[in-house]
Amino acid sequence: MSKQFDVVVIGAGPGGYIAAIRAAQLGFNVACIDEWKNAAGGPAPGGTCTNVGCIPSKALLQSSEHFHHANHHFAEHGITAKGVSMDVEKMIARKDTVVKQNNDGILYLFKKNKVSFFHGRGSFVKSDVAGYHIKVAGETDETIAGKHVIVATGSTARALPGTPFDEVSVLSNDGALRIAAVPKKLGLIGSGVIGLEMGSVWKRLGAEVTILEGLPVFLGAVDEQVAKEAHKAFTKQGLKIELGVKVGDIKTGKKGVSVAYTSAKGEAQSLEVDKLIVSIGRVPNTTGLNAEEVGLKLDERGAIEVDADCKTNLPGVWAVGDVVRGPMLAHKAEEEGVAVAERIAGQHGHVNFNTVPWVIYTSPEIAWVGRTEQQLKADGVAYKAGSFPFLANGRARALGDTTGFVKFLADAKTDEILGVHIVGPMASELISEAVVAMEFKASAEDIARICHAHPSLSEATKEAALAVDKRTLNF
Ligand code: FAD
Ligand code: NAI
Repeated sequence: MSKQFDVVVIGAGPGGYIAAIRAAQLGFNVACIDEWKNAAGGPAPGGTCTNVGCIPSKALLQSSEHFHHANHHFAEHGITAKGVSMDVEKMIARKDTVVKQNNDGILYLFKKNKVSFFHGRGSFVKSDVAGYHIKVAGETDETIAGKHVIVATGSTARALPGTPFDEVSVLSNDGALRIAAVPKKLGLIGSGVIGLEMGSVWKRLGAEVTILEGLPVFLGAVDEQVAKEAHKAFTKQGLKIELGVKVGDIKTGKKGVSVAYTSAKGEAQSLEVDKLIVSIGRVPNTTGLNAEEVGLKLDERGAIEVDADCKTNLPGVWAVGDVVRGPMLAHKAEEEGVAVAERIAGQHGHVNFNTVPWVIYTSPEIAWVGRTEQQLKADGVAYKAGSFPFLANGRARALGDTTGFVKFLADAKTDEILGVHIVGPMASELISEAVVAMEFKASAEDIARICHAHPSLSEATKEAALAVDKRTLNF
C-alpha cells in the first residue's frame, strides 16, 4: 500500500519547498519529493534557484564585485592594495558552501515543519480513491499517494538547436557557475538576465566578454530610459554587446568555440571564444513526470496548463513556478506555492502579478515593478513621469556609486503609482518600497510625503516621487 499524504509536492525549488512548508503550517500531512543530487549523491533541495540559479549567481557576483572594487575603487578611498589576485577555485568553493548552507537550511525547515522529504524522481502512476499515486525512484523505489498534488518541477536551460550543452565549452547556467579558471575570451548568446549577470562576473575577473543578442533592442522588456542608461554603463565597463545578430553554426574544438553569425548589418561574422554560455531563455521541465499517464494537460510550450489559481485540468492537481505560465522568478514561484497551499485549505490564496518585482543584479543594478513607459503609451494610459538621479543623492556620492536614477510613473489624473524603475546602486533593495506602495495602491504623493532616512539611497525614491509633481528638493 502506498504511504498516504494529504499533499504531495513534486519538486523542492522555491515553488515546491515553500508550498510544502505552508501546507504543513496549515495542518496537512505533507510529502515533498526532489531528485536534485549534490556532488556526493545526497539530497540538495532548493531547485535551480539554490543549486544553479539565484543563490550561486549572487555569490559569484559578490566575489567578483569585491575583486573589481579592490582593483578599481579602493585607491579613491586612499587604500593601496597591491598584487590583488583572484583564486577562482576558492571563489567557486565559497559559492558551493553558500549553496550547501541553503540546501541544509531547507532540509532543516522540512524537519521543523514535519514535511516528509523523499529523495528521488517523482512520476505519476495512477489515480484512485486514495488520490494520486506517485512513484519515487531514488536509492530504493517506493510509491506514495496524495489527495492533492502540487507539481513544481521547474525549468531547464534552452539549448540552441543542434548545439547541446557539453558544460565544458558550451555552457548552460550550470556550467557557467563553475568555470574553473577565467577564460581569456568568453562568448554569450542572449543579453537577457543570465547573459548580463554571468557576463558581468567573468568580465570583472578579466575575461574579454562578447554578448550576441538576437533582438535589435537591448533589454526590450525594461523601461527604455533604464535600458539605455544600463547599456551605456555596461559598454563603459567593456562588455561588448552586439544586437540584432543571427547566430549560425557553432563549432567546438580543442581551441574553444567558433560561432558563425550574421551581424545586424547583414555581414557574415565569426566569434572565437574559449567558452560559450548560451542564455536564451528556459523551458518548463516535465521530464520523467509521466504526466500523460494521468492525463495532465500541457500547453504548446510544454508548460503545465493552469488557470489563474494554478489549478490544472485534473481535480486536486496543482502546478506552480517555472513549470507554468508567467515570469520565471523564484519569488513568483514562492507566492504561487503559498497561495495554492492556502487554496487547498479552503482559504483565498492570492498572487498579484502586477506587483511582482524584477531585479537584474548587475552593476548598476536594474529593478522595476509595474508598467514601463512604453507599455503605458501602448495601453493609451495618461501618465506623469518623475525621476531623480543618484548623482544628486548624498549617500550615493558617499558610496562612490552615482550611476543611474529612480523613475516614477503615476496616473495623470489619480496620481496612483503605475510603475517604478530603478537603475543604480542597491536597486534590488530599493524596489521593495515601490512594491509595497503599489500593493497598497499608493499615489506618488504618498511616497513624497513619507519621511525617509538621511542620508540614504531611498531618498532618491522620495525625490523621484516628488519629481512627478515637479517639486524635487535636491535637484
Ligand atoms: P526549480 O527551482 O527549477 O525547482 C524544481 C525542482 O524540481 C528541482 O530541484 C528539480 O530537480 C525538481 N524536479 C523536477 N522534476 C522532478 C521530478 N519528476 N521528481 C522530483 N524532482 C523533480 N530568479 C529570481 O527570482 N532571482 C534571481 O536572482 C534569479 N537568478 C537566477 C539565476 C540563474 C542562473 C537561473 C538559471 C535562474 C535564476 N532565477 C532567478 C530563476 C529561478 O531560479 C527560478 O524562477 C526558480 O528556481 C523557479 O522555481 P521552481 O520551484 O518553479 O523550480
Ligand atoms: P532571458 O529571457 O532573460 O533572455 C534571453 C535573451 O536571449 C533574450 O534577450 C532573447 O532575445 C535572446 N535570444 C533568444 N534566442 C536567441 C538566439 N537564438 N540568438 C540570440 N539571442 C537570442 O533568458 P535567460 O537570460 O536565459 O534567463 C532565463 C530566465 O531565468 C529569465 O527570464 C529569468 O526569468 C530567470 N533569471 C532571473 C534572474 C533574476 O531575477 N535576477 C537572473 C537570471 C535568470
